[in-house]
Amino acid sequence: MVEFALPANSKVTEGKTYKAPEGTKNVKNFKVYRWDPDTEDNPRIDTYEIDLDTCGPMVLDALIKIKNEIDPSLTFRRSCREGVCGSCAMNVDGTNTLSCIKDINDIDNDAKIYPLPHMPVIKDLVPDLKQAYAQYASIEPWLKTNTPAPKNRERLQSPEEREKLDGLWECVLCFCCSTSCPSYWWNGDKYLGPAALLQSYRWIADSRDEETDARLDNLEDPFRLYRCHTIMNCTKTCPKHLNPAKAIGEVKVAMMQRK
Ligand code: SF4
Ligand code: F3S
Ligand code: FES
Repeated sequence: MVEFALPANSKVTEGKTYKAPEGTKNVKNFKVYRWDPDTEDNPRIDTYEIDLDTCGPMVLDALIKIKNEIDPSLTFRRSCREGVCGSCAMNVDGTNTLSCIKDINDIDNDAKIYPLPHMPVIKDLVPDLKQAYAQYASIEPWLKTNTPAPKNRERLQSPEEREKLDGLWECVLCFCCSTSCPSYWWNGDKYLGPAALLQSYRWIADSRDEETDARLDNLEDPFRLYRCHTIMNCTKTCPKHLNPAKAIGEVKVAMMQRK
């Protein structure tokens, strides 16, 4: 398991404990990071005693139960509940993951829940992803062509060419990988990070794209690509079991091969 530091923020204090009703048998403690920008208070950890017999199986189910039944002020992102939208990414039990596909039963002892590490926090479990999305936009994530499209049909790929996109198109842009990467922690303003680089490779590897050289030019920089030092946290933590470290390696190979 990859252990990460707490969000870069001031002192975290012990907060309130919300007790389960008397007589509840199957109780698990959820210790959740709370911070409200509208107060001057330090961040705190609130403890919620949750009855697992009346809760869905995933960590996100517990958070939704807390919000619906105990504390409506708890703030977090979520949408699909299926591991496909990427919005419920957070640090659960020391690992960045998607809370909607993280089984509560896989957590021994108390469930400790923090926002993605080393990102500014907007509120509670909601990180500010402005920079990460700007970096994603900078790799121009769409098909670019210079030649006219074939008449009356789409641009075709062979099955082998299409296969090269497997392990890339499945990325849900949750940024669990980038926020687990020490190089990104220290140089996140200049290094693109594994999420944006995997996405960049998704277009470099696409046989239909005709701007490969310009895409590589865009990455030719001591920081944007080459701050990856193969630390591998990204691949260990990816909740979709993708391999951003390998994708970054492939970009470096493409860079060398064109010289
Ligand atoms: Fe999330 Fe994995 Fe994509 Fe990184 S590579 S953004 S961890 S799905
Ligand atoms: Fe970071 Fe992954 Fe490279 S953890 S240094 S992006 S291999
Ligand atoms: Fe969509 Fe978790 S809510 S990935």
